[in-house]
Amino acid sequence: MRDVLMEIRGLSKTFHVSGGWTRRGAREVRAVRDVTLSIRAGETLGLVGESGCGKSTLGRLCLALEKPTSGEVRFEGRNIFTLTKPKRKAFRRAVQLVFQDPYASLNPRRTAGQTVMEPLLLHATDPRLVPENTRSIMRTVGLSEEQAQRYPHEFSGGQRQRIGIARAIALKPKLIVADEPVSALDVSIQAQILNLMKQLQRDFGLTYLFITHDFSVVRYMSDRIAVMYLGRIVELASNKAIFANPLHPYTRLLHRAIPVPDPRAKRPGQPAEIDDHPPSEEGCLFYPRCPERLDRCREWHPTLFEPEADHRVACIRKKGSL
Ligand SMILES: Nc1ncnc2c1ncn2[C@@H]1O[C@H](COP(=O)(O)OP(=O)(O)O)[C@@H](O)[C@H]1O
Ligand SMILES: [Mg+2]
Repeated sequence: MRDVLMEIRGLSKTFHVSGGWTRRGAREVRAVRDVTLSIRAGETLGLVGESGCGKSTLGRLCLALEKPTSGEVRFEGRNIFTLTKPKRKAFRRAVQLVFQDPYASLNPRRTAGQTVMEPLLLHATDPRLVPENTRSIMRTVGLSEEQAQRYPHEFSGGQRQRIGIARAIALKPKLIVADEPVSALDVSIQAQILNLMKQLQRDFGLTYLFITHDFSVVRYMSDRIAVMYLGRIVELASNKAIFANPLHPYTRLLHRAIPVPDPRAKRPGQPAEIDDHPPSEEGCLFYPRCPERLDRCREWHPTLFEPEADHRVACIRKKGSL
């Protein structure tokens, strides 16, 4: 088995949302709940789930952009929330982020070349090498020297994402957290960007935490897949096992929601939108929507266990077969 690059243990994040000028609307949002998983060196770990289930919050915690309410994240064995200053700087180099919307994350007054050059200049040991390094990174992501002189608004969405990726790989990171990197792009462009990311992974030995709400995208990209529901990981297994042998009823529901190429074909069991009032904290959070629920699911506190080798699930029905 590959080495563990990042280890997430018992990680939770609760946001306290004020109710405005009345206290009545104040509430807690438990965005990430007791997540434990590891990211193995060189793999793509896909994180998939409906909008609002906590994927981005988990991604931001892995980048130490957010402080956890409890639990920890270890990168190469060190807790990322208690790093000393020099170690934190090294961590910031080693773990990079690719955003969904590159337009929002690019400075409109910087050319593509300047954007990519910026992190290189910040960390350069020899500034004279920076221009050549920048050109080489631009070529790597498929942008020409002439394009390096252009500003973000002069690019298409796909090209802008190439700039976002170039900026992320500039410092030769080990781990990239890609948060919905193709969700804002036309379907015809998505495959190009996904293939570029695969190529870069091969060439530079990158590890990806690949976040998406799109089950077909996660299938295309991932070695292993973690399925998230209301802040919890409900299933974690190899890509193959998630599709050939999904153990959690929610994973099966997502399966059925994959768009069918023939638009006239009926899609059974489209998942409903997540409601704003999650069920009580007791028992399985998926209970209200679960087609296979049992009475005892209401009391059972879901935890991931491993009914099959390297295949984890949080469903009491599978517990029975142990
Ligand atoms: N900074 C924040 N303050 C308050 N609530 C937040 C904040 N960030 C995220 N949330 C809430 O946490 C939940 C998970 O959000 P998010 O991690 O963005 O989910 P996803 O990326 O899966 O769509 C949502 O209910 C969202 O409204
Ligand atoms: Mg998100």
